Amino acid sequence: MSPGGEWARTGGRPLQRVVYDAETLGRRVRELGQEITRAYPDGPLLLIGLLKGGFVFLADLVRAIERPVQVDFLIARSYGAGKVSSGALEVLYRPPISVLDKHILLVEDIIDSGRTLAALAEVIREEQPRSLAICALLNKGLAPVLPAEVRFLGFQAPDAFLVGYGLDYAEEFRHLPFIADVG
Ligand code: IMP
Ligand code: MG
Repeated sequence: MSPGGEWARTGGRPLQRVVYDAETLGRRVRELGQEITRAYPDGPLLLIGLLKGGFVFLADLVRAIERPVQVDFLIARSYGAGKVSSGALEVLYRPPISVLDKHILLVEDIIDSGRTLAALAEVIREEQPRSLAICALLNKGLAPVLPAEVRFLGFQAPDAFLVGYGLDYAEEFRHLPFIADVG
């Protein structure tokens, strides 16, 4: 049977191998939730999920955090599709409430070059939150400099194109309960 079994036929492109199965993801996400629970002093904590890729991770992560949290989202896209990314972002949606006096935790699916996060962290930093940190599920290790705010990290990922658990290839595969390599 191919990696991922029946799921493998759901995205129109063959899965090469399962990199993180559902149990491994669940275990690590629960650990991250405990780390976050311990890390924050009292005070409002707002988790901002970066859409769309972060939606599954965020949904599991918030349920592993045992302190009060608020949840919102941020939607951005890179300028100039097809061109070399400059890191310039167009923000399509951001939390309508002020981040002032809140601890902000940006929740990202995967860091590749690190450009997306660096630009988004800048957007939030300008609004002067009480603190700013980043929780990323995966880091490919290709970013020359990780943003200093990356404080919680799930896994060091292989340099492969990964799908599932929110991650897409051409908008497919986001619903897989595991993460696989599509080559
Ligand atoms: P960066 O700005 O180069 O770090 O790219 C990060 C963004 O690219 C992530 O938020 C994902 O949306 C997307 N991305 C990077 N690598 C992958 C991958 O392996 N699978 C799916 N999406 C990816
Ligand atoms: Mg994507």
